[in-house]
Amino acid sequence: MTARLAIRGDLLDFTAEPAWGETESSAVRWRPGHWLLVEDGRIVSVQAEAPGPEWPREDHAGRLVLPGFVDTHVHSPQLDVIASYGSELLDWLNTYTFPAERRYADPQVAAEGAALFLDALLASGTTAAVVFPTVHKVSADALFAAAAERGMRVIAGKVLMDRHAPDGLRDDVEQAEADCRALIDRWHGRDRLAYAVTVRFAPTSTPEQLAMAGRLCAEDPTLYMQTHVAENRDEVRWVRELFPEARSYLDVYARAGLLHPRSVLAHGIWLDDADRAALRDSGAQIAHSPSSNLFLGSGLFGWRAAEAAGAAVSMASDVGGGTSLSMLRTLADAYKVQAMAGERLTAWKALHAATRGAAQALGLGHEIGSLEPGRHADLAVWDWAVGPVARQRLDVAQSLHEQVFAWMTLGDERNLAAAYVAGRISHRRA
Ligand code: GUN
Ligand code: ZN
Repeated sequence: MTARLAIRGDLLDFTAEPAWGETESSAVRWRPGHWLLVEDGRIVSVQAEAPGPEWPREDHAGRLVLPGFVDTHVHSPQLDVIASYGSELLDWLNTYTFPAERRYADPQVAAEGAALFLDALLASGTTAAVVFPTVHKVSADALFAAAAERGMRVIAGKVLMDRHAPDGLRDDVEQAEADCRALIDRWHGRDRLAYAVTVRFAPTSTPEQLAMAGRLCAEDPTLYMQTHVAENRDEVRWVRELFPEARSYLDVYARAGLLHPRSVLAHGIWLDDADRAALRDSGAQIAHSPSSNLFLGSGLFGWRAAEAAGAAVSMASDVGGGTSLSMLRTLADAYKVQAMAGERLTAWKALHAATRGAAQALGLGHEIGSLEPGRHADLAVWDWAVGPVARQRLDVAQSLHEQVFAWMTLGDERNLAAAYVAGRISHRRA
């Protein structure tokens, strides 16, 4: 029997990449009061007319309906360290993050943590994510299993780190390779899951481990790769000492064969022109993590320079360096970061990067990121305003951009009325 559902709301998505600074953009597709018809998990029609009585309905009239957000860089075990006071990246890792991640060697901790994390993503309107668990194979198994249960589009992999990390948090090249291969066999391409060769960052992998990671990528071009790059100035200095033969931090990854169209590199604040050209030429993307970059005092990402060089940019919460799983909070921070550089990020540009733009950068534009027949019905339904301040602001908005920008800037997970994964309700506000 086919599973059917018709959902009504104010539909907003994108048909192209909006240009910088354009508050009126032909890339915006705005279909207020329209019906989305979903059959067996996929959108089959978008229409103004109500469907016939054979369609079960969820009527969200007066609410905003967007494709579910795509968070391209987030750490599932770091809910335990989110909002930790007072340090920059390297100290933050040693003081808070590494000790917390050690707990994920325990299968029960890993399973409970994965469930809490994915449910929290869904409750923030995020239906797809590129995720770091921990170095422990069991943490990746637990995350994939929990994502499969929820039908979510998740890209993840066991974290590779064989040096400069405490006991209980290091692997070695041989065991890590065996674990990766077993996880790839079990999870890559199963349901809506994909494996990412996951190098924590250059300082915590030996050159031998980086080479092994590069070999895995070369053997199977359908694998993703995720890591961190050029986030913090002390980190960049350290990488220069550890890899004197490399031209730059990014070049460490390029030399190991880790830059390709399925590479997702978080941060990329301290890059130069040659790095940006290398990103463009390889097709790798930067997962821009504004909340984390502000919270850890890492720096201000040059989005326009990356884009001008032809490098893809997607949006990431980077929890626990970031302070919220909400992509709305993340986008509001992204606006402020660009404002510090004298740039203005439109709501269109921001929302595109967190939906269609991310989907395309991940090679998943045919599956997620827009409200089009054939796409999976991964959807988030939002209240325009929560509370009297937002309601007042929305009431006086004069244009669609003004309305959507105010919603984006004032909203958070409390605005989320419902989230659907492949047409199935996966979160409903109590
Ligand atoms: N660099 C290496 N590991 C991490 C991490 O867990 N979070 C952030 N923000 N940067 C990193
Ligand atoms: Zn990170």
